[in-house]
Amino acid sequence: MSPFHNIVILTGAGVSAESGVSTFRDQDGVWAKYDLNDVATPEAFQRNPKRVHDFYNQRRANLSSVHPNKAHKAIARLETEHSGNVVLVTQNVDNLHERAGSTNMLHMHGELMKVRCDACGQALEWGIDLATDIACPLCENMGFLRPHIVWFGEMPFYMDQIYRHLAEADLFLSIGTSGTVYPAAGFVAEARAAGAHTVELNLEPSEGESYFAEKIYGAAGTIVPTYVETLLKA
Ligand code: APR
Repeated sequence: MSPFHNIVILTGAGVSAESGVSTFRDQDGVWAKYDLNDVATPEAFQRNPKRVHDFYNQRRANLSSVHPNKAHKAIARLETEHSGNVVLVTQNVDNLHERAGSTNMLHMHGELMKVRCDACGQALEWGIDLATDIACPLCENMGFLRPHIVWFGEMPFYMDQIYRHLAEADLFLSIGTSGTVYPAAGFVAEARAAGAHTVELNLEPSEGESYFAEKIYGAAGTIVPTYVETLLKA
């Protein structure tokens, strides 16, 4: 039986890299091709909603051609087979964790497969391209739908819930994230302060590397299944 009861996992773009979804800050990452001020802020959406829609439409469409990899599957396996609690907090807006079988998860930066109406405030599942001339299916107001994505300058979702889980964590795993974007980058310090064992699994040391008690470097599709296997046997 594992020595840990409450496990909190934070994932970032690196967990989906081997599925063919671009990371953000690697050499050929999303922010090397786009200026985030043009596509990922509320001001960008006000200035040029079409450009923002085009950016997210392309990323949403791309999800139908990618598949969960061994890291997503190992994380889902941990949730199924661990005798205690496993909460997955992801910064990723793709749907690969849920397609791999994870259920107890929080999309803190939103979801590509949802849109939200700025008129009625409701979020809804959305699989097709979004445009400015579409009426909200719920309140019927025209032109208020936006990607259900947390943009720079906006507050991530589920923060109260996440901090409650971190306060009760006895194992905190950070997988595939550069540790550059707050508040997620601060979770390791919270978990540590709560007495959790902290482990970084990433291709390379992240910005927050020094906060982790244990570090495992390599491709997520290789190191995460091995780590999960060891943890379940411990
Ligand atoms: N296996 C493990 N880690 C990998 C792999 C891989 N195959 N490939 C890349 N990585 C690592 C990189 O070394 C890097 O440290 O994943 C990390 C990805 O970092 P970022 O691109 O910065 O992505 P992330 O940390 O998720 O970014 C956080 O920033 O702009 C945003 O909102 C966006 O949610 C995102 C947030």
